[in-house]
Amino acid sequence: MIENLPLKAPDPLLKIIKMFREDPRTDKIDLGVGVYKDASGNTPVMKAVKDAEAVLLAGQKTKTYVGQQGDVDFLKLVGQLAFGEMARDFVSIQAVGGTGALRLGADLLRESGGKRILLPQPCWPNHPAIVRAARLEAVDVPFFNIAEQRIDMDALFAGFATCERGDAVILQACCHNPLGADFSIEQWKQLADALNTHGLIPFIDLAYQGFGDGVDEDVAGARVLLERVPEAIMAISEAKSFGIYRERVGALFVKTAEKARAATMSNLAQIARANYSMPPDHGAAIVREVLSDNALRTSWRDELDQIRSHIKRTRRMLAAERVNSIPMHLIADQKGMFSTLPLNDAQVTALREQHGIYMTDAARINVAGLREADIPRFVEALKAVA
Ligand SMILES: Cc1ncc(COP(=O)(O)O)c(C=O)c1O
Repeated sequence: MIENLPLKAPDPLLKIIKMFREDPRTDKIDLGVGVYKDASGNTPVMKAVKDAEAVLLAGQKTKTYVGQQGDVDFLKLVGQLAFGEMARDFVSIQAVGGTGALRLGADLLRESGGKRILLPQPCWPNHPAIVRAARLEAVDVPFFNIAEQRIDMDALFAGFATCERGDAVILQACCHNPLGADFSIEQWKQLADALNTHGLIPFIDLAYQGFGDGVDEDVAGARVLLERVPEAIMAISEAKSFGIYRERVGALFVKTAEKARAATMSNLAQIARANYSMPPDHGAAIVREVLSDNALRTSWRDELDQIRSHIKRTRRMLAAERVNSIPMHLIADQKGMFSTLPLNDAQVTALREQHGIYMTDAARINVAGLREADIPRFVEALKAVA
């Protein structure tokens, strides 16, 4: 039976990673991979994380299971960090990364009788796969004008109007992947009104807290929305904010009526139990140690500030350049690691083949992957193709 399985296409990003690795040019530029890189092109372990690991190594007394909900102190601390006092009333469960949290949320929606999840386009390419894996229908709705690099709220709301009550909508809280385009506070308020009008459930994906304007600033809009809606699902990834990608640290939070919370928790516990039983401990323990110790927390915030400053500086340098048809100046206003340039397939291929510059097929660039010394060459290559 297994021998009949059809071959599945590999993740398109893996293809680009492989092509980059095999490119012998020494001046090639990797803007494809979605991890933060410092000015020297490294993805270092944060000092606060190393220090927290030393504390854990010295103090850990057991390796028994952490329990169905996961590390409750971790959940309290990341809930507070993301949602402030509101989080106390949310149902929460630790998850295997942000991806695992998204999958738990999608499974919970299906258990609740949900049928469809709206995906404002373009979205993070794993969103549709997660939605479909939970046996829900992924519905694309327009969201962003790439040529003009702007959010199109009218198009988004027109998409909402075609949906059914009980559908959910995935909204990225900050530092949109792949667009870098975030909602303003005013737009979050409009979103809350539109969601309530159409009976849609916000499914918030928070994966880059601290990478945009600041730890609190990056969640201000999502908090405004959460205050205004009766139900919501929030998936959090700590991969980027703590630079602990491989530790797979995430959490799922659910806002619902008090009377529904016990049932919600029991459903989440059952979904998790049948999937991976208990969450991994180490990464969540690191985050718990960092957030609960004043010195470690300050050290972490300082390093996160440096990461954000580095990204913003690269954005400003790119925005100062003029490239024919590309509205470069808007790159400075965008947030987080990613922007998607208005380039077609032929232009993306020409950048790759003729200039050794690698971005995703959809022209997403990882701004943090661009070293200062490479900016002039990158801009000249853009001018040559655009
Ligand atoms: C928008 C978005 N959501 C969720 C995730 C999931 O993060 P992870 O599963 O690595 O914690 C990512 C990672 O790239 C992302 O970009």
